[in-house]
Amino acid sequence: MDKGTFYITTPIYYPSDKLHIGHTYCTVAADVMARYKRMRGYDVMFLTGTDEHGQKIEQRAKEAGVTPQQYVDNIVTGEGGILDLWKLMNITNDRFIRTTDDYHIESIQNVFRALYERGEIYKGAYKGLYCTPCESFWTESQLEDGKCPDCGREVAYAQEEAYFFRQSKYAGRLAELLPGFLEPQTRVNEMVNNFLKPGLEDICVSRTSFTWGVPVDFDPGHVVYVWVDALFNYMTALGHGNSKYDDLRYWPCDVHFVGKEIVRLHSLLWPAMLMALDLPLPKKVFGHGWLLFEGDKMSKSKGNVKDPVILAERYGADALRYFLLREFPFGSDGNFTNELLISRINSDLANDLGNLVSRTVAMVEKYFGSKLPEVREEGPEDAELIGAAGSLHAAYERHMEDFAFQNALVEIFKVTSRANKYIDETQPWILARDESNKPRLASVMYALLETVRICAVMLQPFMPDSCAEIFAQIGAPEELRCYDSAARFGAMPADAQVSRGDAVFPRLDMAKEVEALGNEV
Ligand code: ME8
Ligand code: MG
Repeated sequence: MDKGTFYITTPIYYPSDKLHIGHTYCTVAADVMARYKRMRGYDVMFLTGTDEHGQKIEQRAKEAGVTPQQYVDNIVTGEGGILDLWKLMNITNDRFIRTTDDYHIESIQNVFRALYERGEIYKGAYKGLYCTPCESFWTESQLEDGKCPDCGREVAYAQEEAYFFRQSKYAGRLAELLPGFLEPQTRVNEMVNNFLKPGLEDICVSRTSFTWGVPVDFDPGHVVYVWVDALFNYMTALGHGNSKYDDLRYWPCDVHFVGKEIVRLHSLLWPAMLMALDLPLPKKVFGHGWLLFEGDKMSKSKGNVKDPVILAERYGADALRYFLLREFPFGSDGNFTNELLISRINSDLANDLGNLVSRTVAMVEKYFGSKLPEVREEGPEDAELIGAAGSLHAAYERHMEDFAFQNALVEIFKVTSRANKYIDETQPWILARDESNKPRLASVMYALLETVRICAVMLQPFMPDSCAEIFAQIGAPEELRCYDSAARFGAMPADAQVSRGDAVFPRLDMAKEVEALGNEV
């Protein structure tokens, strides 16, 4: 059935440094959503990329003694760079945009000129307090303790001739737009109270103090403000303003995933610019929370970051992907610790899920020589498990559609726990003692295999490789790995055949791992 298109994006990250677990968190979430929608039959466009212009990159390149382009090339495409990280994390983005790509630069010049010609951009002089790492001007009242409200760093007085975008003009329409457009709801209140109520100001959209940016083609010396350049990536990557791509059928975007510190730009500046150009607005912006480290935001500028490469190489991308989305509610902040990671892997993946798979497969092999006989005998323990597994699909879908990844996973693991309990209740090892119990034993094994299959279908977007391994072990044919097949209990062939393999999630030694990570990260 044709479900239509689904377009999802991550922020395009600054390649001023290697990316860390915070960037990985957002990209994994978007990847899970993209895989989930593909599994449901949507025509998905999943975009990520890099935001390569701006003063910060120019400075970093200078410090490193290379050109800005060389600097970003190394971080994006070099060994161990961003592309390698997404490969390691099994990210299935359909496209990767770099703001230094020729077609994007051409598009931004077109967009900027169009805004100017429509009178939406005018020339003036900018005087204000500037935060270099955030590339943002602030007013006195916006500062927190005299520092940048986004990153908490020093701001400095700056003045330059500049172009301004008439953002203020759109305050009314933005106020109407925000509820329903921006999630979670708490972020709407932040935007209204911090920016709309005090009066939305026009925003400076060009710079003359540095050159690493998209040149304003009708006024040499000016480069386009990095956020105008960056925000339009979501459309230029589909072909807006260029002839490189012809994919605007994906616009308007279904959802932009962004960290809460850039919600302001995505929920005010971005829709305002689109309004100014009479372009359709994205359907949703979701502002996710931060991963904190010892209570502080993990960030490149603070230097307190966790390296996703070390963690993914040591525990596998799947375990790390699972942990990130299971441990932290997507809309809120959460503290990252190595102990949490290890204990989550042990309790959920090794104990609950891993044990269920290995016990089930081992029992089918031991009691039936791998292949189930078709005889069956129902028992009083069945109804509850079958009910739980059979109703999982609907609950899962509801949470996934709300971007409530944690809740979706909790639902799945309720079912795996229920299945482990079912093993204790039915006591297959006792049934196996008496030949006359074989039909009952076969029924129990079938219920377990079927429960594992249903859970694995829904875990696929989170842990694709591990689920492929689970399907192979329980002998689930290709057509029983698809989404719709998990809506019904009893789809597995009656004579299912298992093939035992290694433990999908080996148990970890907490003390040993914490010690090893402590030395590395
Ligand atoms: O802001 N916890 O790029 P950026 C959770 N180029 N998520 C985190 C995080 C943390 N500690 N740290 C970073 C930019 N992120 C702009 C975006 S988009 C048109 C331009 C994630 O490299 C989170 O999604 O600073 C955040 O919004 C993003 O990385 C910022 O990445
Ligand atoms: Mg940032």
